[in-house]
Amino acid sequence: MIDDALGDRSLVVVSNREPYVHGYADGEPTVERPAGGLVTALDGVVAETGGTWVAWGSGDADFDPAVAPDGEVELPPESTAQDDDDRPGYTLARLDLPRRLVENYYYGYSNQVLWPICHLEADPVTVDPEFWPAYREANRRFAERAVDADPDLVWFQDYHLGLAPKYVREARPDARLVQFWHVPWPTPDFFEICPQATELLRGLLGNDAVGFHLERYAANFRDCVARFVPEAEVTDSGIRYDGRTVAAYASPIGIDTERVAANARSDAAAHYWDRITDRYDLDPDRPVVLGVDRLDYTKGVVERLDALSHLLETNPELAGEFTYVQKGTRTREGIPAYRRYYDAVRDRIAELDRVHGTDDWTPAVYIEDDVDDRELAGLYRNADVAVVSSRRDGMNLVAKEFVAAQGRPFPNAGLAQAKGLESPNRDRVPGALVLSRFVGAAESLCPAALPVNPYDVSTFAETIRTALGMGEPERHDRMESLQASVREEDIDAWLATQLDVLAGASQVAAADD
Ligand code: ADP
Ligand code: F6P
Repeated sequence: MIDDALGDRSLVVVSNREPYVHGYADGEPTVERPAGGLVTALDGVVAETGGTWVAWGSGDADFDPAVAPDGEVELPPESTAQDDDDRPGYTLARLDLPRRLVENYYYGYSNQVLWPICHLEADPVTVDPEFWPAYREANRRFAERAVDADPDLVWFQDYHLGLAPKYVREARPDARLVQFWHVPWPTPDFFEICPQATELLRGLLGNDAVGFHLERYAANFRDCVARFVPEAEVTDSGIRYDGRTVAAYASPIGIDTERVAANARSDAAAHYWDRITDRYDLDPDRPVVLGVDRLDYTKGVVERLDALSHLLETNPELAGEFTYVQKGTRTREGIPAYRRYYDAVRDRIAELDRVHGTDDWTPAVYIEDDVDDRELAGLYRNADVAVVSSRRDGMNLVAKEFVAAQGRPFPNAGLAQAKGLESPNRDRVPGALVLSRFVGAAESLCPAALPVNPYDVSTFAETIRTALGMGEPERHDRMESLQASVREEDIDAWLATQLDVLAGASQVAAADD
């Protein structure tokens, strides 16, 4: 598929986050895979396309020069997560960025200005005069590194790189530039909070096409261009800018469903789950409600814990009837709002246990292990209810991973059981998914997933209760529908669209119409 689409044109992928962080621990080399939708989705894709991936080298500066933060490292397939496939692998080209620059462009402009604005959170927006110049400088460096790789096609990822397309366009007017924006795009009334709204949009209009998860986000982007870039003309066939037409298209990202399903069936998944049940003394007969999140205020973890607390206060008979397992990962700890959020989550869990726990029941447990994909799939697989309650989220891959890890339910399970037929999933009753209405994934997964408004605590609590009490036939029916949706919009479908767009195929214009 990839060779057909791109021919022999050279591809350079540019993202802020690198897919593998190398370091040293006790004198031994280590490698970690950062949590995040972008790297999870793209590693497999780039392993298949080959080419160069330019990213900030966030690992140990004193590490082996072959993989130093400013070095290039070859990642053959066996060193990527795609070790079971015959794929070319790729070159990871790392950018060594000074600490002060990282503080101001990554912790600063990207995550204290753009991230909250795109997620419709005005309160955490912090504007510091050093942020914007640093963002410009970092984008210039990413652009230079991309141009050094002599690309025919450049594929930018996300909101850290809003200006890089303009810089690459200046150096390589002939190259085809495409960007995928992995977070929501707000309406003009909200985007107006961004002090550099016009400059940022002009940077992005250096691309030939800009992609979003939902048509709603693409429409907001076009509306922002119409409002804030007076020299651009928004037409039915695209945005006319600087003598070119820029497409704004929608393409929902998905996951590698087969891979997640296989991970969930692996021995490593089962062993990890055994370790967790031992460590926390989880009763196998007590349903598990699961949350898996980067501890980001947009993920609605505090709202979820408030809903659980409300559930136990208003339904005392549920005491001892389930355990909430929170798998957390600390994130962006250089930002005070994130450190406070981490503390708030830990405090809420401790309070839930103090107020509602008994000698033989701990209502909520918190896990912060570094897990690999198989171990994570072990958590998904064994959950009876998963709760994704983001206040706002571009897509949310956790919801899709949970669904794929549940195993394939037998079609018409209720009927099959009535007839005494065996189900291939007979050892497990599928889990139920409670899903925020405010995530991109809700567009395809609700109403088979139970929709919630995370701000509405009592209705949220009631929905968790409904999920816990859901009978087996309904769980099968809903899971069947969820799995069909997750398979339909999987990573291959997303990749096929991106390759069409990168290749400049006619579908691009169609996608924009
Ligand atoms: P985001 O991109 O904002 O982090 P997504 O839900 O789209 O949110 O993607 C998160 C990715 O990171 C998923 O692939 C998920 O497996 C992984 N992830 C999220 N939280 C954790 C966690 N606590 N532990 C391990 N992996 C996590
Ligand atoms: O998916 C959105 C996203 O911001 C990615 O760009 C990013 O890699 C991920 O969330 C995790 O955030 P960070 O890279 O800041 O750890």
